[in-house]
Amino acid sequence: MDLITALEGLAPELERGLDQASSLEELEGLRVDFLGRKGRLAQIMGRLPQLAPDRRPAVGQAANRVKERCNALFEARKSALEAGRDAQALARFDPSLPGRAPWRGSLHPTTLVTEEICHIFTGLGFEVVSGPEVESDYYNFEALNMPPEHPARDMQDTLYITDKVVLRTHTSPVQARTMLSRKPPLAVVAPGKVYRRDSDLTHTPMFHQIEGLMVGEGISMAHLRGTLTAFVRAVFGGDTQTRFRPSFFPFTEPSAEVDISCCMCGGKGQVDGEPCRVCKTTGWVEILGCGMVDPAVYAAVGYSSDVSGFAFGLGVERVAMLKYGIGDLRMFFENDVRFLGQFA
Ligand code: PHE
Repeated sequence: MDLITALEGLAPELERGLDQASSLEELEGLRVDFLGRKGRLAQIMGRLPQLAPDRRPAVGQAANRVKERCNALFEARKSALEAGRDAQALARFDPSLPGRAPWRGSLHPTTLVTEEICHIFTGLGFEVVSGPEVESDYYNFEALNMPPEHPARDMQDTLYITDKVVLRTHTSPVQARTMLSRKPPLAVVAPGKVYRRDSDLTHTPMFHQIEGLMVGEGISMAHLRGTLTAFVRAVFGGDTQTRFRPSFFPFTEPSAEVDISCCMCGGKGQVDGEPCRVCKTTGWVEILGCGMVDPAVYAAVGYSSDVSGFAFGLGVERVAMLKYGIGDLRMFFENDVRFLGQFA
């Protein structure tokens, strides 16, 4: 067959092929078939040397025309198929669906409860202060009426850094620091970490306390009771009962421990006929220690014996466990996001 006729047959044939192609892959196959290095066009052009030299230019021009035509057909079909594919993808895409919210962090329950308690006390006129976690033996013990060899030092399994420097075992040293740097009247709360050499199901070597201290003229046990009762009701609800039990701390006299009616069983000691696990059927749970500041502490910080005041110290994790019904202290320290995320 005449080469020019053969060349001119290519474009219509390609067009039919393109019409039937339904995917971009098939399209690429056709392109290789017709225009590729060993494709139909190349094969026809391979016969060019057989022609007389004077006929070759006309065939060359025909080949270029056919090639252009084929390329144009090919590109047109390609755009059509691509548009179809995009339309399909768009049809699957629902722009009215809500977006995926990015994962957000939240405050740790210890932080939440600390903030809530501090907020309650600032509302009662207290100021928030802080003190160091690495503390001298003097502030942690001596200024608080626990001289060397005092048996009460054994009550707190102290982590020593040197003979005279400890990780504070409670937030009470902030009492002494505050009184040394300020004159009465004063009312402060001091949240922070405390450390004890103690670790089991219900104790961790680090936990959080909030210390409270109010000193002035004529501050009495009644103020202590009123303040702590208001605090308990703000945190646990207005129906919560409080009970002040006599106790002992070297830096307060008299001293008490405060129990609240169990928030798990409502003070009944039973939940659905089963013994309450939180209060062990007593109906009460202990939440803090407190008392009237011991005169020996005023003497240590150089206050006159005319002033009086109260102090208290509470465990933040303990309050959080009761408030949120958290059964296991270790939850606070494992940083499991499934637990933490519930406080968002
Ligand atoms: N510091 C005591 C403790 O950690 C609690 C307390 C604070 C008691 C203030 C009385 C007054 O157990």
